[in-house]
Amino acid sequence: MENIDWKELGFGYLKTDWNARSTWRNGAWSPLEITQDEYLSLHMAATCLHYGQEAFEGLKAFRGVDGKVRIFRLEENAKRMIRTAEYTMMALPTMELFREACVEIVKRNERFVPPYGTGASLYIRPLLIGSGAQVGVKPATEYMFVVFVTPVGPYYKTGFKPISVMVDRHHDRSAPLGTGFVKVGGNYAASLLSGDMAHKAGFPGVLYLDACEKKYIDESGAANFFAIRDGAYITPKSPSILPSITNMSLRTLAADFGLRVEERPVEFAELPTFEEAGSCGTAAVISPIGKVYDPDEGKTYTFGDGATPGPWCVKLYEALRGIQLGEKDDVHGWNTVL
Ligand code: PLP
Ligand code: COI
Repeated sequence: MENIDWKELGFGYLKTDWNARSTWRNGAWSPLEITQDEYLSLHMAATCLHYGQEAFEGLKAFRGVDGKVRIFRLEENAKRMIRTAEYTMMALPTMELFREACVEIVKRNERFVPPYGTGASLYIRPLLIGSGAQVGVKPATEYMFVVFVTPVGPYYKTGFKPISVMVDRHHDRSAPLGTGFVKVGGNYAASLLSGDMAHKAGFPGVLYLDACEKKYIDESGAANFFAIRDGAYITPKSPSILPSITNMSLRTLAADFGLRVEERPVEFAELPTFEEAGSCGTAAVISPIGKVYDPDEGKTYTFGDGATPGPWCVKLYEALRGIQLGEKDDVHGWNTVL
């Protein structure tokens, strides 16, 4: 695409050529419709609008060093969307529907897959909504599944540079027996105010603690948290965080590198003992955390010099990107090569 400055792309919406849709009606998904229409025609009583019957996913396609396009861990995103659909009582997209829609829409928008070496990628956004009309609080009888794509650059403006995050003890994005472990829009609506407060205070990210005791680290905005200490990759196990596919991949890569992997409740009090800290996710990739500011205690915790990514963050980042970009062997079979 001659008029896109790939290296300057942020994380936003840019119109592409095609998107895919399917409707679930009378117990079956319709054949995929491929369209250029960016709008959905929705009934005003659709359950997604009133009762938040909505699930979304986020995954990426990359242009590799060999020119081929690779989609990273598509099956895991499909499984997670199915889990979200189960919890919110929506029609379950099938693995085949999810795969076909993602592959077809990436192929048809191939001119929007950013060139290798630009650091940008094609973000794939599958969406599932209750589209049937309902006024009682009940599941809809009709659903829509949509997949669109948009080219994106780094989630945080600074790219692979340590970010500063602010602890928020006064808002929770999810609760232990709530919806944090699935990907519903309501979790993100619940995070907007604290995200805005952090931004206004000069912090690109929020660090959430567990909703019950505020004793444990949950996650960092729309990304999981991890830390490195004494040869261990440490990451929170919590019922109120989204099981990140990036984090799952980093646990595998960390173990491949000989790090001990600890997935367990992580106390906030452990923060000063960490050598490195980071956030990870599809959008965030690995965004090292340089500083954590705790406004209640008036304290700042700094990792390394607070401005340079730590050595394990670099190593893990390079290993992950290497696989996604086809520079390194995909020994775990994570890529769908188109
Ligand atoms: N946590 C939250 C709340 C998220 O929105 C995301 C993004 O999807 C993640 C973590 C990271 O998950 P993944 O690595 O699967 O993108
Ligand atoms: C992702 O990493 O895919 C996310 O969902 C983060 C955000 C854009 C919601």
